[in-house]
Amino acid sequence: MSSIQKSQIEAALGTVMEPDLGRDLMTLGMVQDIVVDETGNVSFSVVLTTPACPMKEKIKNSCIEAIKAAVPGVGSIDVNMTSKVTSSCSHGGHDGHGTHGAHGGHGGSQKIELENVKNIIAVASGKGGVGKSTVSVNLAVSLAASGAKVGLIDADLYGPSIPTLFGLQSVKPEVKNNKIMPIEKFGVKLMSIGFLVDPETALIWRGPMASSAIRQLISDVDWQELDYLIFDLPPGTGDIQLTLVQALPLTGAVIVTTPQDVALADVSKALTMFRKVDVSILGVVENMSWYELPDGSKDYIFGKGGGEKFAKINALPFLGSIPISSSIREGGDTGTPSIIANPDAPTSVAASKVAGEIARQVSIHNAACANG
Ligand SMILES: Nc1ncnc2c1ncn2[C@@H]1O[C@H](COP(=O)(O)OP(=O)(O)OP(=O)(O)O)[C@@H](O)[C@H]1O
Ligand SMILES: [Mg+2]
Repeated sequence: MSSIQKSQIEAALGTVMEPDLGRDLMTLGMVQDIVVDETGNVSFSVVLTTPACPMKEKIKNSCIEAIKAAVPGVGSIDVNMTSKVTSSCSHGGHDGHGTHGAHGGHGGSQKIELENVKNIIAVASGKGGVGKSTVSVNLAVSLAASGAKVGLIDADLYGPSIPTLFGLQSVKPEVKNNKIMPIEKFGVKLMSIGFLVDPETALIWRGPMASSAIRQLISDVDWQELDYLIFDLPPGTGDIQLTLVQALPLTGAVIVTTPQDVALADVSKALTMFRKVDVSILGVVENMSWYELPDGSKDYIFGKGGGEKFAKINALPFLGSIPISSSIREGGDTGTPSIIANPDAPTSVAASKVAGEIARQVSIHNAACANG
């Protein structure tokens, strides 16, 4: 018969800090189902705020070490790492008097309610072609692979990319009970204006018509429950972008840049746009950071460290760098994201790391806003 008490385990775990949230696991309510058997074997679950947590292994090891140090004679220690994604408080979904049914609103500035969507992340850039869609797709697929429920939406009327990036050019979504059913691929629920209207029709839409089409596209989709909805924004900082950013209860925005573009005014314009409408910036991703030469050395074609510097100057988290590689481009061309087609390629590893960092920033953001 073991003399180890559950309270000893609780006390030990009360010394383990959640590195990002700055408090211990017990205080944060992250430990569940502690069981100590007769022989002194211990098991419990740690409920993280995201399945993509980059600190998962570190936290697990800290738990084991803390128990070993504080509880002499303990047997085996079985830690079950699980997660429950936290919700953004920019959501009106829980106060009971949100603005339902965004259609036909005057001026189109009412917020669209997506009640079962915990977090909406906009992926933006100052200018086109820097890799927003590539980052969005790999982020979505990577979060889904970690076990999260993920949606991805593409609102680029004039050049939708999700159908091509997922190899779904001729797919048409079903409509059930007046809701558009998203298309599911690689574990991600997808919606694109490209599934619904042909590009020639979309091209003649302007201003209010374009905005209202996009609003409908977002609110009429049957997303069901989502931990993360990734929003691949059209390039630039014009009216459509501004309407979208105002229409959605965004958790925050991720800004994608290439190393040489940070010197340009465009990235700053994107920052200004989000700040003007009080959307948090989750951080900066640098894409096309370097090219790996056959001998393994790195060629910083567009200059080194621009994205990180830009993040620092603007007091924003830097979310990581993604190198240039043909596997990313081929993934886009063949409709299989590189994270799936080529998971060990340096770009895929970098892209999953970026995904983990973004999930981490979302958790930090949600913890901060939950605490007021
Ligand atoms: N890290 C990378 N390595 C190689 N090619 C890349 C990389 N990132 C993006 N690309 C390629 O660059 C092109 C532009 O990327 P992408 O479409 O993701 O940019 P975007 O910012 O979404 O563009 P737009 O502003 O037109 O929406 C694509 O052909 C893509 O495959
Ligand atoms: Mg794009």
